[in-house]
Amino acid sequence: MRKIMVANPKGGCGKSTLAIHIASWFARHDEIVYLGDLDRQQSSRHWLAARPGHLAPIRYWEISEEAFQMPPKNCNFAILDTPAGLHGKRLKEALNAVDKVLVPVSSSRFDMLATREFFEELAATKAVRKERVDIGVVGMRVDVRTHAFVQLLEFLERFDLPVVTCIAQSQRYLQAADTGLTLFDNDSNSTAMDIQWRPLLNWLVSRH
Ligand SMILES: Nc1ncnc2c1ncn2[C@@H]1O[C@H](COP(=O)(O)OP(=O)(O)O)[C@@H](O)[C@H]1O
Ligand SMILES: [Mg+2]
Repeated sequence: MRKIMVANPKGGCGKSTLAIHIASWFARHDEIVYLGDLDRQQSSRHWLAARPGHLAPIRYWEISEEAFQMPPKNCNFAILDTPAGLHGKRLKEALNAVDKVLVPVSSSRFDMLATREFFEELAATKAVRKERVDIGVVGMRVDVRTHAFVQLLEFLERFDLPVVTCIAQSQRYLQAADTGLTLFDNDSNSTAMDIQWRPLLNWLVSRH
């Protein structure tokens, strides 16, 4: 079983978008996928509730702040979406339950500042120091033509962490999410999608 957490204390950086896309990708490839949501706003859970029944099933991983339950044993991929502001005891608890952490970062200055502190907190936790979890960074909502993108790459270079991929800004992520879909449900064969997502999906199944 692969247990993957998507985390960054900054709201709006793309955690839920990443979580639902990863879930739908593996579900489409006949894996048993559970999606958990630690966020009170329950974006991922609402998305799941809106998901059309004929699509590859994604099961809900019942989990709450009070009772941190592991996903069922039959699960192949457990994906955990997390809230803004996750840190301290709750972050440690979540880190103890997963093998991989994905950190989406957008090129906004505020995102970068919040992320720097988060990287520092991650580096200080036992799970990361003992190399029990792998951390991967995802540039999110990027526009490669902008100076902001260059600044994001320069910022990320300062940390000893892999930048697994960069996902372009596209209105289609918004539109899909409203209807319980992901972009993989619409055009999983698109070359642009493949170039952006493939390195991330490969990283998620690699052993550490
Ligand atoms: N690559 C992208 N291109 C365009 N919009 C995006 C992209 N990724 C996320 N968004 C949008 O940005 C908003 C915040 O994303 P979300 O995944 O909810 O962030 P978080 O879970 O970190 O708060 C949402 O409206 C989402 O649809
Ligand atoms: Mg969210």
